Amino acid sequence: MTDRYAVVGNPVAHSLSPEIHSAFARQTGQQIEYVKLPAPLEAFSSTVAQFRDGGGKGVNVTVPFKFDAFKFCDQLTPAAIDAQAVNTLDFRDGKIVGYNTDGIGLVTDLERNLEFSIRGKRVLIMGAGGATCGVMQPLINAHPESVVIANRTLEKAMSLVARFKKSDIKLSAKAYDVRSATQFDLVINATSAGLRDEMPPLPDRVFAVGALAYEMVYGRQTPFMDFAQTCGVQTADGHGMLVEQAAEAFWIWRGVRPDTRLVIAHLKARD
Ligand code: ATR
Repeated sequence: MTDRYAVVGNPVAHSLSPEIHSAFARQTGQQIEYVKLPAPLEAFSSTVAQFRDGGGKGVNVTVPFKFDAFKFCDQLTPAAIDAQAVNTLDFRDGKIVGYNTDGIGLVTDLERNLEFSIRGKRVLIMGAGGATCGVMQPLINAHPESVVIANRTLEKAMSLVARFKKSDIKLSAKAYDVRSATQFDLVINATSAGLRDEMPPLPDRVFAVGALAYEMVYGRQTPFMDFAQTCGVQTADGHGMLVEQAAEAFWIWRGVRPDTRLVIAHLKARD
Protein backbone atom coordinates (compact mmCIF):
# COMPACT_ATOMS: atom_id res chain seq x y z
CA MET A 1 0.00 0.00 0.00
CA THR A 2 1.23 3.52 -0.82
CA ASP A 3 2.00 5.67 2.25
CA ARG A 4 0.58 9.18 2.16
CA TYR A 5 2.29 12.42 3.21
CA ALA A 6 1.44 16.10 2.76
CA VAL A 7 2.64 19.64 3.19
CA VAL A 8 0.21 21.74 5.21
CA GLY A 9 0.22 25.53 4.97
CA ASN A 10 -1.74 28.66 4.06
CA PRO A 11 -1.10 29.39 1.28
CA VAL A 12 0.39 26.13 0.05
CA ALA A 13 -0.26 26.21 -3.69
CA HIS A 14 3.29 27.47 -4.41
CA SER A 15 5.00 24.72 -2.36
CA LEU A 16 7.77 22.75 -4.05
CA SER A 17 7.66 20.00 -1.39
CA PRO A 18 5.48 17.55 -3.41
CA GLU A 19 7.92 17.80 -6.32
CA ILE A 20 10.95 17.37 -4.05
CA HIS A 21 9.57 14.37 -2.16
CA SER A 22 8.37 12.72 -5.36
CA ALA A 23 11.90 13.08 -6.76
CA PHE A 24 13.34 11.54 -3.57
CA ALA A 25 10.85 8.66 -3.79
CA ARG A 26 11.67 7.92 -7.44
CA GLN A 27 15.37 8.04 -6.69
CA THR A 28 15.18 5.67 -3.71
CA GLY A 29 12.43 3.35 -4.97
CA GLN A 30 10.03 4.31 -2.16
CA GLN A 31 6.27 4.02 -2.71
CA ILE A 32 4.76 7.26 -1.43
CA GLU A 33 2.10 9.77 -2.38
CA TYR A 34 2.73 13.39 -1.34
CA VAL A 35 0.05 16.07 -1.66
CA LYS A 36 -0.59 19.73 -0.81
CA LEU A 37 -2.91 20.16 2.15
CA PRO A 38 -4.33 23.68 2.44
CA ALA A 39 -5.62 24.48 5.94
CA PRO A 40 -7.85 27.39 6.98
CA LEU A 41 -5.98 29.71 9.39
CA GLU A 42 -8.07 28.60 12.36
CA ALA A 43 -8.14 24.90 11.48
CA PHE A 44 -4.59 23.55 11.48
CA SER A 45 -5.29 20.82 14.08
CA SER A 46 -8.53 19.54 12.58
CA THR A 47 -7.09 19.53 9.05
CA VAL A 48 -4.04 17.50 10.12
CA ALA A 49 -6.09 15.20 12.35
CA GLN A 50 -8.38 14.42 9.43
CA PHE A 51 -5.40 13.64 7.21
CA ARG A 52 -3.98 11.32 9.85
CA ASP A 53 -7.32 9.61 10.48
CA GLY A 54 -7.52 9.00 6.72
CA GLY A 55 -4.28 7.02 6.87
CA GLY A 56 -1.68 9.81 6.43
CA LYS A 57 1.75 8.91 7.81
CA GLY A 58 3.23 12.37 8.26
CA VAL A 59 3.20 16.02 7.20
CA ASN A 60 5.58 18.86 6.56
CA VAL A 61 4.41 22.15 8.04
CA THR A 62 4.95 25.52 6.45
CA VAL A 63 3.95 29.14 7.06
CA PRO A 64 2.07 30.10 9.22
CA PHE A 65 1.57 26.86 11.16
CA LYS A 66 4.97 25.91 12.59
CA PHE A 67 4.04 27.10 16.07
CA ASP A 68 0.58 25.47 15.90
CA ALA A 69 2.37 22.25 14.98
CA PHE A 70 4.69 22.65 17.98
CA LYS A 71 1.67 22.78 20.30
CA PHE A 72 -0.07 19.88 18.53
CA CYS A 73 2.57 17.17 19.20
CA ASP A 74 2.61 14.35 21.75
CA GLN A 75 6.42 14.23 21.65
CA LEU A 76 9.05 16.77 20.60
CA THR A 77 12.68 16.28 19.62
CA PRO A 78 15.37 18.53 21.18
CA ALA A 79 15.69 20.50 17.91
CA ALA A 80 11.95 21.23 17.94
CA ILE A 81 12.14 22.35 21.58
CA ASP A 82 15.11 24.64 20.80
CA ALA A 83 13.27 26.17 17.86
CA GLN A 84 9.86 26.20 19.59
CA ALA A 85 8.55 25.39 16.14
CA VAL A 86 7.87 22.19 14.21
CA ASN A 87 8.16 21.67 10.45
CA THR A 88 7.81 17.87 10.31
CA LEU A 89 5.24 15.61 11.95
CA ASP A 90 5.61 11.86 12.05
CA PHE A 91 2.55 9.78 12.92
CA ARG A 92 3.97 6.69 14.56
CA ASP A 93 2.69 4.11 17.07
CA GLY A 94 -0.40 6.19 17.75
CA LYS A 95 1.64 9.30 18.62
CA ILE A 96 2.38 12.59 16.87
CA VAL A 97 6.12 13.26 17.00
CA GLY A 98 7.36 16.78 16.12
CA TYR A 99 10.72 17.60 14.53
CA ASN A 100 12.37 20.73 13.23
CA THR A 101 14.65 20.06 10.27
CA ASP A 102 15.09 23.68 9.08
CA GLY A 103 18.32 24.33 10.97
CA ILE A 104 20.00 21.11 9.96
CA GLY A 105 18.86 21.84 6.40
CA LEU A 106 20.61 25.22 6.44
CA VAL A 107 23.81 23.89 8.01
CA THR A 108 23.99 20.92 5.60
CA ASP A 109 23.50 23.22 2.62
CA LEU A 110 26.22 25.57 3.84
CA GLU A 111 28.78 23.01 4.91
CA ARG A 112 28.29 20.18 2.43
CA ASN A 113 26.78 21.66 -0.71
CA LEU A 114 28.43 25.09 -0.61
CA GLU A 115 31.56 23.81 1.18
CA PHE A 116 31.43 26.76 3.57
CA SER A 117 32.74 25.82 7.02
CA ILE A 118 30.93 27.75 9.77
CA ARG A 119 33.54 26.96 12.42
CA GLY A 120 35.34 30.09 13.63
CA LYS A 121 33.34 32.41 11.33
CA ARG A 122 31.67 35.73 12.16
CA VAL A 123 27.99 35.32 11.34
CA LEU A 124 25.34 38.00 10.89
CA ILE A 125 21.76 36.78 10.73
CA MET A 126 19.14 39.31 9.72
CA GLY A 127 15.64 38.89 11.11
CA ALA A 128 14.35 37.60 14.43
CA GLY A 129 11.18 35.80 13.36
CA GLY A 130 10.32 32.14 12.95
CA ALA A 131 12.96 31.52 10.29
CA THR A 132 15.79 32.72 12.55
CA CYS A 133 14.40 30.86 15.55
CA GLY A 134 14.37 27.60 13.60
CA VAL A 135 18.04 27.73 12.66
CA MET A 136 19.75 29.31 15.69
CA GLN A 137 20.72 26.21 17.66
CA PRO A 138 22.10 24.16 14.72
CA LEU A 139 24.03 27.27 13.64
CA ILE A 140 25.51 27.64 17.14
CA ASN A 141 26.30 23.92 17.22
CA ALA A 142 28.47 24.42 14.12
CA HIS A 143 30.87 26.54 16.28
CA PRO A 144 31.01 29.98 14.64
CA GLU A 145 33.21 32.54 16.39
CA SER A 146 30.22 34.82 16.91
CA VAL A 147 26.62 35.35 15.85
CA VAL A 148 24.99 38.77 15.65
CA ILE A 149 21.22 38.86 15.25
CA ALA A 150 20.07 42.11 13.61
CA ASN A 151 16.43 43.03 13.47
CA ARG A 152 14.25 46.01 12.65
CA THR A 153 12.54 45.50 16.01
CA LEU A 154 15.53 45.28 18.35
CA GLU A 155 13.60 43.76 21.28
CA LYS A 156 12.88 40.61 19.25
CA ALA A 157 16.58 40.14 18.48
CA MET A 158 17.39 40.69 22.15
CA SER A 159 14.93 38.09 23.34
CA LEU A 160 16.37 35.53 20.89
CA VAL A 161 19.87 36.26 22.19
CA ALA A 162 18.65 35.72 25.75
CA ARG A 163 17.07 32.43 24.72
CA PHE A 164 20.10 30.97 22.95
CA LYS A 165 22.87 32.43 25.11
CA LYS A 166 23.91 29.27 26.88
CA SER A 167 26.97 28.32 24.88
CA ASP A 168 30.48 29.77 24.65
CA ILE A 169 29.69 31.37 21.27
CA LYS A 170 29.57 35.20 21.35
CA LEU A 171 25.96 36.12 20.73
CA SER A 172 24.61 39.66 20.43
CA ALA A 173 21.66 41.66 19.14
CA LYS A 174 21.64 44.86 17.15
CA ALA A 175 19.40 47.09 15.13
CA TYR A 176 20.41 47.80 11.52
CA ASP A 177 23.08 50.45 11.79
CA VAL A 178 24.47 51.96 8.63
CA ARG A 179 27.49 53.30 10.50
CA SER A 180 28.59 49.92 11.81
CA ALA A 181 32.11 48.99 10.74
CA THR A 182 31.89 45.30 11.71
CA GLN A 183 32.53 42.79 8.94
CA PHE A 184 31.11 39.28 8.67
CA ASP A 185 32.14 36.06 6.92
CA LEU A 186 28.58 34.81 6.58
CA VAL A 187 25.52 37.03 6.24
CA ILE A 188 22.18 35.21 6.28
CA ASN A 189 19.00 36.99 5.29
CA ALA A 190 16.27 35.32 7.36
CA THR A 191 13.80 38.20 6.97
CA SER A 192 10.76 38.02 4.76
CA ALA A 193 11.71 41.36 3.16
CA GLY A 194 12.85 39.75 -0.13
CA LEU A 195 9.33 38.50 -0.77
CA ARG A 196 8.29 42.14 -1.15
CA ASP A 197 11.43 43.11 -3.08
CA GLU A 198 12.81 44.90 -0.03
CA MET A 199 15.88 44.38 2.12
CA PRO A 200 17.04 45.51 5.54
CA PRO A 201 19.52 48.40 5.36
CA LEU A 202 23.08 47.06 5.39
CA PRO A 203 26.37 48.99 5.39
CA ASP A 204 28.45 48.57 2.18
CA ARG A 205 31.35 47.12 4.11
CA VAL A 206 29.39 44.42 5.92
CA PHE A 207 31.06 41.59 3.96
CA ALA A 208 34.56 40.40 4.89
CA VAL A 209 36.86 39.16 2.12
CA GLY A 210 35.64 35.75 0.94
CA ALA A 211 32.23 36.19 2.62
CA LEU A 212 29.10 34.29 1.65
CA ALA A 213 25.69 35.98 1.41
CA TYR A 214 22.90 33.46 2.03
CA GLU A 215 19.30 34.38 1.16
CA MET A 216 16.70 32.05 2.71
CA VAL A 217 14.10 33.08 0.13
CA TYR A 218 14.30 30.94 -3.01
CA GLY A 219 13.21 31.17 -6.61
CA ARG A 220 13.70 34.92 -7.07
CA GLN A 221 16.52 37.42 -7.30
CA THR A 222 16.04 39.52 -4.15
CA PRO A 223 17.46 43.00 -3.40
CA PHE A 224 19.77 41.35 -0.82
CA MET A 225 21.26 39.13 -3.53
CA ASP A 226 21.63 42.12 -5.86
CA PHE A 227 23.39 44.04 -3.08
CA ALA A 228 25.76 41.17 -2.27
CA GLN A 229 26.62 40.69 -5.95
CA THR A 230 27.33 44.40 -6.28
CA CYS A 231 29.72 44.01 -3.32
CA GLY A 232 31.41 41.17 -5.22
CA VAL A 233 30.66 38.33 -2.80
CA GLN A 234 29.39 34.82 -3.43
CA THR A 235 25.62 34.37 -3.00
CA ALA A 236 23.32 31.41 -2.41
CA ASP A 237 19.54 31.27 -2.25
CA GLY A 238 17.27 29.05 -0.14
CA HIS A 239 16.81 26.19 -2.63
CA GLY A 240 19.53 24.15 -0.99
CA MET A 241 18.09 24.62 2.50
CA LEU A 242 14.61 23.74 1.24
CA VAL A 243 15.79 20.48 -0.29
CA GLU A 244 18.02 19.56 2.66
CA GLN A 245 15.27 20.09 5.25
CA ALA A 246 13.02 17.92 3.06
CA ALA A 247 15.69 15.21 2.87
CA GLU A 248 15.90 15.17 6.65
CA ALA A 249 12.11 14.71 6.85
CA PHE A 250 12.31 11.94 4.23
CA TRP A 251 14.95 10.21 6.37
CA ILE A 252 12.73 10.47 9.48
CA TRP A 253 9.76 9.00 7.63
CA ARG A 254 11.38 6.45 5.34
CA GLY A 255 14.80 5.69 6.87
CA VAL A 256 16.51 6.36 3.52
CA ARG A 257 18.74 9.29 2.48
CA PRO A 258 18.16 10.65 -1.03
CA ASP A 259 20.85 12.32 -3.14
CA THR A 260 19.91 15.97 -2.66
CA ARG A 261 22.39 17.49 -5.09
CA LEU A 262 20.55 16.26 -8.17
CA VAL A 263 17.27 17.73 -6.90
CA ILE A 264 18.84 21.10 -5.99
CA ALA A 265 20.48 21.33 -9.41
CA HIS A 266 17.15 20.55 -11.07
CA LEU A 267 15.30 23.30 -9.13
CA LYS A 268 18.01 25.90 -9.73
CA ALA A 269 18.12 25.13 -13.46
CA ARG A 270 14.46 26.07 -13.75
CA ASP A 271 14.85 29.60 -12.34
P1 ATR B 1 9.28 34.23 9.45
O1 ATR B 1 8.55 33.12 10.14
O2 ATR B 1 9.39 34.07 7.96
O3 ATR B 1 10.60 34.55 10.07
P2 ATR B 1 8.09 36.49 10.80
O4 ATR B 1 8.09 35.76 12.08
O5 ATR B 1 6.91 37.33 10.45
O6 ATR B 1 8.30 35.49 9.58
O7 ATR B 1 9.42 37.42 10.75
C1 ATR B 1 9.73 38.16 9.63
C2 ATR B 1 11.10 38.83 9.87
O8 ATR B 1 11.42 39.65 8.76
C3 ATR B 1 11.13 39.74 11.09
O9 ATR B 1 12.41 39.71 11.66
C4 ATR B 1 10.84 41.12 10.48
O10 ATR B 1 11.31 42.19 11.24
P3 ATR B 1 10.43 42.75 12.49
O11 ATR B 1 10.58 41.75 13.58
O12 ATR B 1 11.03 44.06 12.82
O13 ATR B 1 9.02 42.85 11.97
C5 ATR B 1 11.63 40.99 9.21
N1 ATR B 1 11.22 41.90 8.12
C6 ATR B 1 10.14 41.79 7.33
N2 ATR B 1 10.11 42.76 6.40
C7 ATR B 1 11.22 43.53 6.62
C8 ATR B 1 11.77 44.69 6.00
N3 ATR B 1 11.17 45.28 4.94
N4 ATR B 1 12.92 45.18 6.48
C9 ATR B 1 13.54 44.61 7.53
N5 ATR B 1 13.07 43.51 8.17
C10 ATR B 1 11.93 42.98 7.72
